Amino acid sequence: MPRLSQWFVRAALLHLALGFTFGALMLSNKGVPFYPLLWRLLPAHIEFLLLGWTLQLALGVAFWIMPRFWEAPARGNETGAWVAFVLLNLGVWAVAIAGVFALPAAVTFVGRVLEVGAAVAFAIHIWPRVVPRTG
Ligand code: HEM
Repeated sequence: MPRLSQWFVRAALLHLALGFTFGALMLSNKGVPFYPLLWRLLPAHIEFLLLGWTLQLALGVAFWIMPRFWEAPARGNETGAWVAFVLLNLGVWAVAIAGVFALPAAVTFVGRVLEVGAAVAFAIHIWPRVVPRTG
């Protein structure tokens, strides 16, 4: 597994652990209310599990298994994929923190822009690798 995929998958697992923990806290708080402010974790729960875990795992595995080139570098120009990794994680945390701490909407907006940037950067990297391969 290439180094970037290791980073993607490890970061994804970290978000899975945090997202599930936040979900479990909210769920138990729903059954036996003990700390109403725990509801503030909902935006982070959603962000960590939908993008931090699911999307991040998909990107990490895609970078690893999509068709490679015959000549080196096997995965072409990797810059876009690395940029995507950084932007996605910055974006996810910006949106999550903005939600949890009720920060101004501008912070959420910046986070979303970073996430869109991550999608564009990854698409630029992966586009030339979307080719048929036989054998
Ligand atoms: C990949 C897994 C998961 C994803 C993508 C996910 C996503 C979401 C989303 C989108 C919501 C908002 C739903 C809404 O507002 O209508 C939500 C709410 C919630 N989730 Fe999760 N979730 C996941 C796993 C879990 C787990 C494992 C737990 C508990 C251990 C959990 C507990 C909760 C709770 C308590 C709420 C609030 C429900 C309410 O509004 O009453 N989630 N989740």
